[in-house]
This record gives sequence, structure tokens and C-alpha cells, in this order.
Amino acid sequence: MIEAEFWDYDTLDEMADAVAGDIGFIIESALDARGEALIALPGGNTPKPIFDRLVKAKINWKKVTIIPGDERLVPMTDERSNVRMIAQTFLPVGARVVPITGDIDDYKLAGNSADARLKDLKWPPDLVWLGMGNDGHTASIFAGPDLDEALNAPKGRNAIGVMPDPLPPEAPVARVTLTRSAILSARTILITITGQAKRDLLEGAIEDGQSSKLPIGRVLAEAEQPIDIHWAP
Ligand code: 6PG
Repeated sequence: MIEAEFWDYDTLDEMADAVAGDIGFIIESALDARGEALIALPGGNTPKPIFDRLVKAKINWKKVTIIPGDERLVPMTDERSNVRMIAQTFLPVGARVVPITGDIDDYKLAGNSADARLKDLKWPPDLVWLGMGNDGHTASIFAGPDLDEALNAPKGRNAIGVMPDPLPPEAPVARVTLTRSAILSARTILITITGQAKRDLLEGAIEDGQSSKLPIGRVLAEAEQPIDIHWAP
């Protein structure tokens, strides 16, 4: 089984303070070691209070490149766009925010284009920070016709387009996502989740490993690095 450690907090605020501190440290360490940092951030609602704290950290943001770990195929002006919240938070402090999608409607082509964009960045990321949906998806690795490709894309294939089936109600659109091999190539993987239901789901998925029916179980099953999972009720 993989090495996963749960960090429990009493409140969301406490979790946000701790996670922002940890990510600040990961970025600082990357800057010390390599003079630059590349991090992939999640979408959804959980990250917002953490972004708000992290952005206040005294970091040389100009040396930090930020990508969304997955993106919904909507214009950047759409509230559902993951890079929109990242850009609104981190552009003002000078970080280099790189969207992974553009105007391509065909989701498979959008995935190819994202993969090509990522080739311009210095891989691997110092951090891939993941969330998890109630259905056990992570990044945008969802159940559906593209699950197999997202999980089994060869090393070096960092992004693909996916059509979730069923479509998730919070954003029922096609996605572009980091592949499992891209996620697992990260120097650090960190997960944030909230609520007992997600915790039970994630614990079960980790225990089931490769045989998990949930995308996140399948993604994490091959992780070689220890994974920190931060949880608040
Ligand atoms: C997305 C995500 C996704 C997210 C989870 C959890 O674009 O949908 O990146 O993987 O992290 O759905 O979202 P919440 O934090 O809103 O529950």
C-alpha cells in the first residue's frame, strides 16, 4: 500500500493555515534548490481560503509558475474556469500563471494542445495539489470513456482531454486533466478534502489500491512518494 498520512484539523480555517504554510515551504525549498518553482493547483471550492492565505506568503512569486492541474472546457471569463481563480489570486503578486486550455472546443484536441503547452515548462512539478469529488474523481480523472487513457497514458504524456460520464453537476462540461503519470511525476503530492463522506471514500480507495473502482484510488495506487492528506470536517 502507498504511504499516506492524514492530517486532521478541527476547522477549515485551521486546515487552510496549515496547508498554506506547507505549500509556502514547498515553494521556498524549490526556489532554494533550483531558483524556480512549478506547482499545479486544483479547482473546486476547497482551495479558495488556502489560496487567499498562500498568496500572502513572502515568496518571490516572480519565480513561481502556476498551472491548474485540470481545467473545465469553458472560457476563462466563465466562473467555472479553474485558472480564472488562480489568475485572480496569483497574478497580482507577479506569479507566472499558465492556462492549459485556449479556444479549442474539441476536448481531445484541447488535451493535445495542453500537453504541448506543458512541454514548454520545466517538468516535473514541485507540487501537484489535488482535491477529490464526491464521486472519487481527482484532478479531472473521471469515470467515463477516457478514464483508461488518463490512467495509462505513457510517461511524458502529461495532459489529455476527457469527457466525464456522468457529467459532474457542478460543472457539466468536458475537461483537460493531468494524466496519472504526470501527477505521479511530481516531487510532492498533497491532497485536501473536507467532510466525513469524502474521508471514508478516500480511505477506502487507498486501501483498495489498484482494484479501487474510484479514479483517485487508481491514481494513488502507484505513488512512490509519501502523500499528505489534509482533512477538515
Ligand atoms: C475540478 C477539480 C476537482 C476538484 C474536486 C473537489 O475542476 O473539478 O479540480 O478535481 O478538486 O471536484 O472539488 P471541491 O473542493 O469543490 O469539493
